[in-house]
Amino acid sequence: MKTIQKPRIFSCIEPALQYVKDRQLKTALLNALSNQEKAIATIEGTFGKLTTQKWPEETFKFFFNAWKATHLKMLAIYGLSCRLQRMALEESDDPGKQHELLLAAAKNAETSYEDLGLDFDGETHTKLYHDLAESFVSDDSWTLDKWSIPEANAFKEFVYRNMVVENIQVGLFTNMFSEIYNHAEYTVALSAFNELIDAHYDFVPDEKKKTTTYIFAHLEDETELNHFSVVIDSLNYYAKAENTAIDYELAQRTFETYLLKMARVFEQINLKLS
Ligand SMILES: [Fe+2]
Ligand SMILES: [Fe+2]
Repeated sequence: MKTIQKPRIFSCIEPALQYVKDRQLKTALLNALSNQEKAIATIEGTFGKLTTQKWPEETFKFFFNAWKATHLKMLAIYGLSCRLQRMALEESDDPGKQHELLLAAAKNAETSYEDLGLDFDGETHTKLYHDLAESFVSDDSWTLDKWSIPEANAFKEFVYRNMVVENIQVGLFTNMFSEIYNHAEYTVALSAFNELIDAHYDFVPDEKKKTTTYIFAHLEDETELNHFSVVIDSLNYYAKAENTAIDYELAQRTFETYLLKMARVFEQINLKLS
């Protein structure tokens, strides 16, 4: 019998790193991924478990509430771009620096075009996410705090603070890593949801398409990989504008913390899948 190779997070990220020209940044990314192998295995294991049976609605309410808290970070992206724009506005005496900061802000903001539905008739990723969740739960009650998982709320807060409160490089490293990580996670998730639906649900093709559109939207046209590269551009514009060095140790630490905190969310989701 032919065994189907399931996608793995590391093998989805590694090929994309060949386009990273900055060798030190590439090393920071690879080190973070190898140091946090255990965290990655927790995440993959949870998606694996999701495919094994038809789950009660309650389980899905926890899943979709928590998973949403780890994605859909438009507000944080907007906050980070606002900070860069504000810095630019303060540089009216230095048009070169002002221009670079505005470009850093614009490149960072580019990561939210699809989420906001630009070029998609205003259809937001939030709407697509609700279509996914409501294929498995009968109403929108999964959005209530009652179904939230503290670790997922903590993750959302971590991302928001990193991008809106902490220093700008931490914000950009966070946005950057979330894009490359999401590319891989959505690849794993698409495979898991397809397997779950095919094995345990009777969706007609149109229903299956509507269910998985949210995940697929991040993979077609390599959306998340493009986002990853525009955040690198943003970082380079920022470093040039500020005449400052990129802090690669801080980058690696930020990437590792991101994975560790994400794994904590998946550990809790895993406990709900039983
Ligand atoms: Fe999105
Ligand atoms: Fe993205």
